[in-house]
Amino acid sequence: MNRYEGRRVLITGGGSGIGRATVHRILAEGGLVHAVDVSEAGLKVTADRAAAEGHQDRLTAAVLDISDENAVKEGVAAATLALGGLDVLVNAAGILRSAHTHQTTLDLWNQVIGVNLTGTFLMIRESLPALLAGDRPAVVNFSSTSASFAHPYMSAYAASKGGIQSMTHALAAEYSKQGLRFTCVAPGSIESGMTTGNGPGLPEDTDWSLFTKLAPALGQGFAGPETVAGVVAMLGSEDGAFITGTEIRIDGGTHY
Ligand SMILES: NC(=O)c1ccc[n+]([C@@H]2O[C@H](COP(=O)([O-])OP(=O)(O)OC[C@H]3O[C@@H](n4cnc5c(N)ncnc54)[C@H](O)[C@@H]3O)[C@@H](O)[C@H]2O)c1
Repeated sequence: MNRYEGRRVLITGGGSGIGRATVHRILAEGGLVHAVDVSEAGLKVTADRAAAEGHQDRLTAAVLDISDENAVKEGVAAATLALGGLDVLVNAAGILRSAHTHQTTLDLWNQVIGVNLTGTFLMIRESLPALLAGDRPAVVNFSSTSASFAHPYMSAYAASKGGIQSMTHALAAEYSKQGLRFTCVAPGSIESGMTTGNGPGLPEDTDWSLFTKLAPALGQGFAGPETVAGVVAMLGSEDGAFITGTEIRIDGGTHY
């Protein structure tokens, strides 16, 4: 499949997990990709794999903190220059922090909302002029199953992901007449840096009985990040041409 031949794609969170899998999937489909992440080391691993697969000519990368307004302004301008325009924005960067809500500091709350929700907003706002001038443009945002199904100890994260889902619907209404599509993926139970131990995990005294649904119905456990990357690639391509203002849950049936 070469759905991305000639398409210019900016991907956040390209230094790990689902963002990285999306970089490789879109490169494999012929796309021109600019990957950003706060992790320089993560981007290096992504670039090394792209080179090993012979795709180094179509990948550029840069360190960017999506929660920093000025950095996003500069980073999106640099990305648009490197790509020669912009057709697709994939907002995969995110953080998960878990804690009892009565022990959640305002700093922790602001950090999660600042990266996940405000960072996604900043990336979209700064990319809009280039996207509106792009070819069949699309934005794919990252919600989570926690936006619609209760995940205890993650109120800040769930709120940030619910906000991204709501924002996606509002943006679709605002820009559909100009041909710009906005969709969300809502992953769950996916192996990635986030689920295998980056950042603080669940509280030590976690009450597991509060988690009503834990295991995917499909397969033997968590799935690889490429299971989400394929859906992201579909949403950003012409196969998703009649999809906007909605989300697709990708959790192996954990929450059906
Ligand atoms: N893994 C899952 O089961 C799951 C479930 C629901 C939603 N998600 C979402 O999928 C997306 C990808 O996460 P993942 O699971 O691949 O985890 P991950 O930790 O492997 O990848 C997240 C990436 O985002 C980057 N990042 C963090 N803060 C950043 C910032 N301020 N600026 C730029 N980059 C930053 C990290 O460095 C990392 O490379 C996230 O939005 C996450 O919330 C994942």
